[in-house]
Amino acid sequence: MKVYIVGAGPGDPELLTVRAMRLIQQADVLVYADSLVPPAIVALARPDCTRIPTKSLTLEELIPLMVDRARAGQHVVRLQSGDVSIYGAIAEQIQALHQAGVAVEIVPGIGSLQLAAARLLTEWTLPGVVQTVILTRTPGATPMPENLADLAAHRATLALYLSARLVDKAQAELQKHYTSDTPVAICHRLGWPQERIWLAPLTEMAALTHRENLTRTTLYVVSPVLGVQAGRSCLYHPQHRHLFRP
Ligand SMILES: C[S@@+](CC[C@H](N)C(=O)[O-])C[C@H]1O[C@@H](n2cnc3c(N)ncnc32)[C@H](O)[C@@H]1O
Repeated sequence: MKVYIVGAGPGDPELLTVRAMRLIQQADVLVYADSLVPPAIVALARPDCTRIPTKSLTLEELIPLMVDRARAGQHVVRLQSGDVSIYGAIAEQIQALHQAGVAVEIVPGIGSLQLAAARLLTEWTLPGVVQTVILTRTPGATPMPENLADLAAHRATLALYLSARLVDKAQAELQKHYTSDTPVAICHRLGWPQERIWLAPLTEMAALTHRENLTRTTLYVVSPVLGVQAGRSCLYHPQHRHLFRP
């Protein structure tokens, strides 16, 4: 008795892991987050696979759907967007499944942050510019133990999830520490047919969001790396010695 919690990647079926693809194709039951997993990925399941969209379900409704089918010996795949360790609300699902005596295996996925870097042909940790990445959000219904402005004080690469509807508040907090001209990549529906990416100074982040009517599935990445030429890493520098290049 096992449920597979699988990262579906940002949206493009070609960015599924081989293991995720195989599990989806083998599934008797696909329990998927329909607000973020696109139809092209759900379509990879067998025609006779039972597809259960979950965006309108509570945890109390969701868990029995998985437990009952796993107990009946069916191959149950719980599919969520990106990598499941980032805002996946999986801890509560794992706990409830374990309490019901059902084992869990997690299959990680490519996160939207990784695809954003790929699209922008950049690395979020550019030597000499930024060596730290912060993954965070704007507090909404879910309270945040950390303070967004405090996180901005590091002037690291800062990926802001789940914040399109709170973008005015987010911009105001970020501007307490990032300079006004710090670039932000506004990435909408990465990996979906509707993908759009804008580069703007931080001061225009909220205005652009409103103008383009972005309310969901938007990742903001605020980062000094977006405005500079590549620095030089130690890794490939002739004067840097290491284990494999003594
Ligand atoms: C519930 S979180 C899930 C994040 C996901 N686990 C990941 O690794 O990307 C949903 C938020 O992730 C971001 N997101 C997820 N998929 C995205 C995509 N395809 N394009 C842009 N942003 C995305 C958005 O900020 C969205 O509000």
